[in-house]
Amino acid sequence: MTETFYITTPIYYVNGAPHIGHAYTSIAADVLARWMRMEGREVYFLTGTDEHGQKVAQAAAAAGQDPQSFVDGLAAEFRDMSAKMNISNDDFIRTTEERHKQGCAALWKILADKDEIYLGHYEGWYALRDEAFYGEDEVTTRPDGTKISPFGSPVEWVKEPNYLFRMSAWGDRLLAFYEANPEFLGPSSTRSEIISFVKGGMTDLSVSRASLTWGVPVPGDPEQVMYVWLDALANYITALGYPDESAPLWRFWPANVHFVGKDIARFHTVIWPAFLMAAGIPVPKRVYANGWWTVEGEKMSKSVGNVIDPRDLVKEFGLDVVRFFLLREMPFGNDGDFNRRALIGRMNSELANDLGNLAQRSLSLIARNCDAKLPERGPATEDDTEILSQAMALPGIMQPKLLRQIYGDALEDAWKVIRAANAYIDRQAPWVLRKTDTVRMAAVLRVLADALRPIATVLLPFMPGAMGAMLDQLGVPADARDFAALATPLPGGITLPPPQGIFPRYTGDAA
Ligand code: MSP
Repeated sequence: MTETFYITTPIYYVNGAPHIGHAYTSIAADVLARWMRMEGREVYFLTGTDEHGQKVAQAAAAAGQDPQSFVDGLAAEFRDMSAKMNISNDDFIRTTEERHKQGCAALWKILADKDEIYLGHYEGWYALRDEAFYGEDEVTTRPDGTKISPFGSPVEWVKEPNYLFRMSAWGDRLLAFYEANPEFLGPSSTRSEIISFVKGGMTDLSVSRASLTWGVPVPGDPEQVMYVWLDALANYITALGYPDESAPLWRFWPANVHFVGKDIARFHTVIWPAFLMAAGIPVPKRVYANGWWTVEGEKMSKSVGNVIDPRDLVKEFGLDVVRFFLLREMPFGNDGDFNRRALIGRMNSELANDLGNLAQRSLSLIARNCDAKLPERGPATEDDTEILSQAMALPGIMQPKLLRQIYGDALEDAWKVIRAANAYIDRQAPWVLRKTDTVRMAAVLRVLADALRPIATVLLPFMPGAMGAMLDQLGVPADARDFAALATPLPGGITLPPPQGIFPRYTGDAA
């Protein structure tokens, strides 16, 4: 039986347009989804939009629209963002869809039947921006007297009759779970933070709002809607057909990886596993929290006016450059700064010079000197064997890193080989061999084509467009673009299409 692999992105709040923070998590998830498909696994990849809650309701009111038409408009923007970023999701779930609302209500009923939820009273802090409740000890007072959450969001005092989830009963079980499952939560900084938060003690969690109507109604109590995070987290199972555990997609549960940002790690690694355990549903295998981007040194914010729409970047630099840059520039679990100079630097040095030139030099020599036909393999020298074995080792070296979301390092592995292949071509100088030893020249060009193929294959999930074009130029058929196919060399003598530059240099204004 083919192994299943279920990957999710967060579902994005539709209170504003998509920005690079959203694109970032989606691209990282997409790379892993594509890689796993190339390993022959059966992948299910989910993304979508989080459309209920106070924050979205307020944004709709501010726009003077009824919430449903407001979210319809923005959900379309997020769908478009996914398409423009070439995200290969299998489904796009919206929490206002009937299938989701029904699944949510079913989850609620199970929790209520098991007495994990009870009608009580909530009194405490709430941060609208985080859609989160905070304990007294987590809230700090600014010099101007205003109070803020640990994430810097303003908090307000809320007092409501609410349904509460018996979170206080789950602390020890969660700690035992983290201990027994070291792979459940990464990176290690987030893991430590979450463990110390849970060790600090859990209080029961309010899971409904009485003062809000924009949400999934609480079954049996039309006066209340479900807390937006219970509603939102459930998307990962409602999309698979929950509560129908005989639904065809249910076999994908539990998820292999939930990709999340560091700000929402707590919801995914404390609240979500507690809900699932309480409902008797298996817990996801892994949650990984990525860091945050600032822009040119500043926090991205509408008021500063520095919010970057990833679609604008794509128009200027090209999609694959943007996908590559976001995963290459900063270690995935860390925070980092997005700036144009860094992007242009990597585009010109790593893509145009290192990789683009390697391919262009090799392929244009084949086009001009080998009658545009892929040369036969010749007798291999030590130098040939060395570069080929380095290139062929890439899938095995990179895969464990991708499974741990160490993207920057995995890309560095590929670049080591690209730099080694550039050194090889300079050493072998096929342009000199053209005049002295055409048989050896052909053998060298074949080595280069054979080294480029695994390089383009491991980079295909990162840059599907550009690497697809490179594999076209290398004569690799569409059905041979997976890792298993690398074991079968291409037949010598096939005609290669005319080579074309894949990565143009950026020559515009670097400002
Ligand atoms: N709706 C919730 C998620 C529910 S999942 C069941 C939510 N949505 S969000 O739209 O506010 O954020 C979605 C993701 O974008 C989060 O993972 C968040 O960390 C990420 N980012 C938002 N701004 C970001 C940056 N500036 N940089 C990197 N990622 C950022 O939270």
